[in-house]
Amino acid sequence: MSKKTIAYLLMGVLLLALGLTGCGGQQPAGGGEKAAVLKVGTEPSFAPFEFQGENDKEYAGFDMDLIRAIGKQMGMQVEIQSMGFDGLIPALEAGNIDVVISGMTITDERVQKVSFSKPYYKSGLTIVTKQGNDQIKGFGDLAGKRIGVQIGTTGADEAKKIKDAQVREFNTPPEAFMELKAGGVDAVINDKPVNDYYMKEAGSKDAQQVGEPLTSEDYGIATAKKNTELSEKINKALDELKKNGEYDKIYEKWFGKKP
Ligand code: ARG
Repeated sequence: MSKKTIAYLLMGVLLLALGLTGCGGQQPAGGGEKAAVLKVGTEPSFAPFEFQGENDKEYAGFDMDLIRAIGKQMGMQVEIQSMGFDGLIPALEAGNIDVVISGMTITDERVQKVSFSKPYYKSGLTIVTKQGNDQIKGFGDLAGKRIGVQIGTTGADEAKKIKDAQVREFNTPPEAFMELKAGGVDAVINDKPVNDYYMKEAGSKDAQQVGEPLTSEDYGIATAKKNTELSEKINKALDELKKNGEYDKIYEKWFGKKP
């Protein structure tokens, strides 16, 4: 064999090897080797935490940036799926998704079913009423009123505790705001940072936010109870992002101030 032939042969073998590993990387086998994909569930009608802008292809928001940064830190590819808020925990329990990040409050009831990361955002509930309504000034004025909430949320839980209130549950907070505008409900109970954003972006000509926050709530990233390893990894990534300044950067981007 000439030197040239050997060189060509070697090159051929090399290219073949490269091609094979290339394919392997793109299509990991379903059975043996596991693809490093982190399946994330969220209910994306919750700006500025998770939402889809008119011209956006990808979901945007504080939670979305945070989970992408966490995925990167863990060396995993993040895949985000949209679902109803009340379907998120069942999807985790069924193993259809690996994590939930969705402005989800860490509550005693949820802790029975899933694990939460360390708190990553402090929130609370406030009231939104129609612009000019001077009867509802706080939570004490909601007895007997028609209240709109998002189904499955802490806002819905609190609304149901109010005496004689007629609680109407909507799939998303924007639907509850629309009903407020249409006069079908007297008030909406929802998370303060989301109400703030709504007032700033669109709501202030139709709506007003009233009263002091009723609750103090911590948002956490949820994982399946049996997946303790993932929960630890997420906490570790969260710590690292806080240390290296990335968390602060994302926070400032969405809230315009330091955490
Ligand atoms: N923090 C509230 C809760 O956990 C509301 C969260 C709603 N999140 C959403 N992405 N729609 O119940």
